Amino acid sequence: MNPSNPSYQELPRYPESLWRATTELPTFPRLAEDIEADVAIVGAGITGITTAYLLAKAGKDVVLIEAGRILNGATGYTTAKVTAQHGLIYHELTSHFGEENARLYYEGNREAIEFIRNIVGGDEEKFGLKLEDAYIYAQEDDKYLAKLEDEIKAYEQLGIPGEWQDSLPLPMPIRGAIKMPGQYQFHPLQYLKHLTEQFLMLGGRIYENTTMDEKAETEGPITLLTKRGGHRITCNHAVSASHFPFYDGKGLFFTRLHVERSYAIAVKPETAYPGGMYLSVDKPKRSLRSASYNGEDLVIVGGENHPTGRSICTHQHYENLELFAGNLMGASAIPYRWSTQDLITLDNLPYIGPITSKHDRIYVATGFRKWGMTTGTLAANIISDQILGKTNRYADMFNPSRFKADPSIKTFVVQNATVAKDFVAGKVDLSHADITELKIGEGAVVRHNGQRAGAYKDDQGNLHLVDTTCTHLGCEVEWNEGERSWDCPCHGSRFRYDGKVLEGPAIEPLKQLDAES
Ligand code: FES
Repeated sequence: MNPSNPSYQELPRYPESLWRATTELPTFPRLAEDIEADVAIVGAGITGITTAYLLAKAGKDVVLIEAGRILNGATGYTTAKVTAQHGLIYHELTSHFGEENARLYYEGNREAIEFIRNIVGGDEEKFGLKLEDAYIYAQEDDKYLAKLEDEIKAYEQLGIPGEWQDSLPLPMPIRGAIKMPGQYQFHPLQYLKHLTEQFLMLGGRIYENTTMDEKAETEGPITLLTKRGGHRITCNHAVSASHFPFYDGKGLFFTRLHVERSYAIAVKPETAYPGGMYLSVDKPKRSLRSASYNGEDLVIVGGENHPTGRSICTHQHYENLELFAGNLMGASAIPYRWSTQDLITLDNLPYIGPITSKHDRIYVATGFRKWGMTTGTLAANIISDQILGKTNRYADMFNPSRFKADPSIKTFVVQNATVAKDFVAGKVDLSHADITELKIGEGAVVRHNGQRAGAYKDDQGNLHLVDTTCTHLGCEVEWNEGERSWDCPCHGSRFRYDGKVLEGPAIEPLKQLDAES
């Protein structure tokens, strides 16, 4: 509870995204036999579903595989801004990749917006598609104001439509802002439910609750194996559209990506929202957009980003967003709260294309840096073109095998040093809670039989104990109080209180320990 917030409202006890709560999705069987297909796509979020739709439309026999339920990864928990304004990016891209590539990034994302608009057609209301101006703004820090000034210069250099603003339509003092007109917001799951239906009508097949093994046979026809049951999928092309690639192919993606968690609440405001989509460039990050569903006008307030597994009290992040929303517009109710994880590459540019130069029939799309609505759509267009043998003018710049010494090397070293530190720190951490003092609904790292263990007391008072060693590569998981999950700081695997895998790359659950022993 946050008593300093004048319009304090109770946060929902359990996280649930507005998008998932307002969309009824079909269910699909687990794969229980050996099958063949032209293309196998692993991961049913915006990238996987859009790629599947495009390839099925082009006449390919496509199978879509999902480890859990469709649209239950990052796509189900986004703020769903459909924009080419991806925070502070164009100055950085121009400096590191040159003017031509920076312009291509903008144009590719603009094309993705047009793609989504075409799919929606005249059904804007059904898909919640709404034309909005997008703003990035700086509030206090001189450093971020200077970055914003560099960014508007990059807009001018690249010919990107943008206007400098000294104030916002919101009642909030700022130092400066950049408005990018003509952007969109939508309901991502209504849109992707539609694309899923189109894919099925084109003869596509979908299997849920089917986890793929990290091993694959890649000589001749590609053979993928399911983890449970060992069923084989034989195909000519495979696409990894999951968070971390399910198959690494020596691309070393675990060392080239890091994971950030961010939070969102849906607020019923007490004052009228003026429209627009907003993102602060200073810290803590704040993001705003409206959404109106089931007759209610809501505002989605997001932000509070931090590296996964490195926050002491995750519930505090929701309370910080609530305080911000309460002060800005009042909050008469907060019907939904949710959080998500996003992957970020070494150079901030997504990896899209063949997984390595040696495996040109296995593709990857990852590292969207929180902007998956447009870059996921762009990735689907690039990869489907590559599979269909068509030239795509954006393919080169996103090639996962690119190597840029600046700034990758430095970031590579820093990030991997951090991962290595987590790996070791978790093992020697001596600050453990007392298992007997756990309250209902509480989880903590404890000491059990002299070993580090994860404990959670459920609503019935039952104690669940797990080994906190992540089953992916052995880092130590930490308790996430806001989501009631065990989160791994190294590559973002998440586990339920009883060890069941919620999000990969881990495939195996955390080992359960006997609470009686
Ligand atoms: Fe990689 Fe945990 S060690 S996700």
